[in-house]
Amino acid sequence: MEELDVLVIGRASTLMSTIRTRLPETLKTEVLDPSHLRSELKNKQPKVILLLHDEGDIERVALIQSEQLHAPVIFIHESHDFQLFRDLVRRGVTDYLVMPEDLEGLGDRVETIVSRASAEQPKEQLFKRGNGKVFSFYSGKGGSGKTFLSTAFAQTLKFESTAQVIYIDLNLQYGGGETFLGIEPNRTIMDLEPVVEELSEHHLKNVSEKEPFSKLDLLISPRDAELAERLTEDFVTKVLRACRRTYDFIIVDLPSSIDERTYGALIEADKVFYTIALDTPSIRVLKHVESLFQKLGIPTEDRLELVLNEVGKENELSKKDLERFVTYPQAAQIRRDLKGVQTGINKGQPIRKEPKEKKMIPAAKDMRKWVRSMLK
Ligand SMILES: Nc1ncnc2c1ncn2[C@@H]1O[C@H](COP(=O)(O)OP(=O)(O)OP(=O)(O)O)[C@@H](O)[C@H]1O
Ligand SMILES: [Mg+2]
Repeated sequence: MEELDVLVIGRASTLMSTIRTRLPETLKTEVLDPSHLRSELKNKQPKVILLLHDEGDIERVALIQSEQLHAPVIFIHESHDFQLFRDLVRRGVTDYLVMPEDLEGLGDRVETIVSRASAEQPKEQLFKRGNGKVFSFYSGKGGSGKTFLSTAFAQTLKFESTAQVIYIDLNLQYGGGETFLGIEPNRTIMDLEPVVEELSEHHLKNVSEKEPFSKLDLLISPRDAELAERLTEDFVTKVLRACRRTYDFIIVDLPSSIDERTYGALIEADKVFYTIALDTPSIRVLKHVESLFQKLGIPTEDRLELVLNEVGKENELSKKDLERFVTYPQAAQIRRDLKGVQTGINKGQPIRKEPKEKKMIPAAKDMRKWVRSMLK
């Protein structure tokens, strides 16, 4: 097995030559012609893979993923192809760079990934780095529990695993996540704006707040509509991609209204957890959302999963009733827990404070069940 810093997969071309001139000379770099991919890939152990666009990108990514579990893959193309980008990211590609516009930052990016990979002990690596999963919590219906469930999910994930987790609040006008976690933020996601073109792990760690009990990292929203307007879909996409390189799980809390930022986070998501109550209005809203997603080209198949919230005896509909109207997989169900949830909020305290809680409120237990089943 040959150890390498960078493996560039692509045919000889002008693009290939340009890319090679941008890679730091200190890095051990090799070029592999795609026709030798099948036979040669298993003999190489690179820290990062640069894959140049060619025919059969998806199949090649699948092959790389099956042979090279640890190396992040950066895909390089000469044009913007949204559909392809989406498919590649869902296959586990870390980054999609468009040449020549992204050429400037290429060398630095590769260097950062390589130096991080060198510093890490592969044996202690429990999760695939550089390949973090984005889970966006969404619902067309306000007040359906997106913020409560996404904060609780992120916090529980942190308590129940060694994964690196970040919670991102994209309710840019009103915020919300910090109140469920009892945080008084000093910094917000806006602080990333000046450095968005060169986002590093360092920037993310500096700007994020920490939830003191679980040590969950948080990117808090500015709660300022005017400021928020400045942020674009491109900003959201760049932040999420940078987070993929640093974290194992990126939990995004979204508002019900779909603007360009919400759209960016929905497109980038590996999974969309749709929070829904067991009643007719909620199903009606979901139907609207479905047709809107279709119009906007936001895929739901294999991505959208339902999280039944406020489940209890007083629900208008049963799970069976819901299944007659909606066939999405059900990721979890969380009980209606007025006492437990409300007491926490009133005290400004999160629902979990330690890994092995003695007295856990019912909603926290349901959340733990979901998170544990997902981690298996
Ligand atoms: N399982 C539950 N049991 C009891 N109360 C709940 C539960 N889930 C959510 N709530 C309560 O419902 C209210 C709305 O929840 P939350 O703010 O999370 O919804 P949201 O979808 O984020 O709302 P918005 O659309 O305004 O962002 C909160 O007061 C929360 O405490
Ligand atoms: Mg909310």
